[in-house]
Amino acid sequence: MKIAIDGPSGAGKSSLAKGIAKRYGIVYVDTGALYRAIGLYAQRKGIVLEKIGEICSLLGDLEVSLRYEEGEQQVFLFGENVSGLIRTPEISAYASAVSALPAVRSFLLETQRKIARETSVVMDGRDIGTVILPDADVKIFLVADDRDRARRRYEELCSKGLNASFEEVLSDMRKRDENDRERDIAPAIPAEDAVLLDNTGFTVEQTLNRALEIIEGKISK
Ligand code: DC
Repeated sequence: MKIAIDGPSGAGKSSLAKGIAKRYGIVYVDTGALYRAIGLYAQRKGIVLEKIGEICSLLGDLEVSLRYEEGEQQVFLFGENVSGLIRTPEISAYASAVSALPAVRSFLLETQRKIARETSVVMDGRDIGTVILPDADVKIFLVADDRDRARRRYEELCSKGLNASFEEVLSDMRKRDENDRERDIAPAIPAEDAVLLDNTGFTVEQTLNRALEIIEGKISK
């Protein structure tokens, strides 16, 4: 079984995908973590956002991988577990910038497809239904009102003790979503056969229940 969950940041893709993975006993793959790890690498290499293309010449030596420890996905950069370092606003901006580079996207393509060939997955990202798994059994494009999405991100950052204002989170998120949606390669738009799920005002449980209805409906066909 292959399930694709795409949509903008903060729409609740990861909570939903985790719920689906648990329900069906399949593997949850958070593909954004791969772009974030490359973003972290670019930042560590001292590349500034305006010259992000410089990362392309370093991809030949780059090692990024996903592993599962006690059911939780961990992302490794040259063997170092960087899962705890990639969720800051700075690395979010780097991840969005590197994700617009065709060389980065083709570098990560096989890593993602390989996992889905080996096991049943629910994969979340921006181009899973359109590019990575065009033959997925179910494709859901999850959206929510942008203030709702920014509020979730804001609360997540506050709970980690990171300092940010709500307005800052909202404007960063709008900027990144625009980058992700407007880029030339693999833009974050729904696949033609994706089901749009707007979860504005929904709880995590309500979103999961609606998604399970969509999945059961598709699979029973
Ligand atoms: O889902 P996320 O916020 O962790 O993703 C980080 C960035 O990576 C985001 O700006 C979009 C990009 N991304 C992408 O282009 N394609 C994916 N499949 C996953 C993430």
